[in-house]
Amino acid sequence: MSEKITISFTVNGENETREAAVGQTLLSFIRDDLHLTGTKSGCEIGECGACTVLLNGKPVNSCLVLAIELNGKELLTIEGLSKNGELDKLQQEFIDHAAFQCGYCTPGMIMSAKALLERKPDPNDEDINEALSGNLCRCGAYQEIRAAIKDAAKK
Ligand code: FES
Ligand code: FES
Repeated sequence: MSEKITISFTVNGENETREAAVGQTLLSFIRDDLHLTGTKSGCEIGECGACTVLLNGKPVNSCLVLAIELNGKELLTIEGLSKNGELDKLQQEFIDHAAFQCGYCTPGMIMSAKALLERKPDPNDEDINEALSGNLCRCGAYQEIRAAIKDAAKK
């Protein structure tokens, strides 16, 4: 059995202390231990962006980060975006623009866009393209995704 280490962190604003296996990925920890299944597992080798979450406000591929690296940090997942039952403006704009088909890439796209708008509230096309460069959409909804992000930035 793999060794476990106690880690303390915040997840979506709540303080947590848990045990994490030494070799466990953050993606597995989020989905299997925290039961936050909005974060999706795609390639698991850092190429698709489906597993994107914010760690201390920065987007990371959670399949490439170890769960134990979460110790002392702040984790934000897609579940943490809505407040008091109200969707984040990005979530609402993705719905209004129908910026998805299967929706598998959507949580990762929104988390990357969230980090972008925190860093740059009025992004241009280049900023958006760069922010989404690690997020693949197999359904090809890029045009609607970009439009949703632009409209969320206006709000
Ligand atoms: S599952 Fe992490 S980048 Fe694809
Ligand atoms: S909506 Fe299907 S992968 Fe993007």
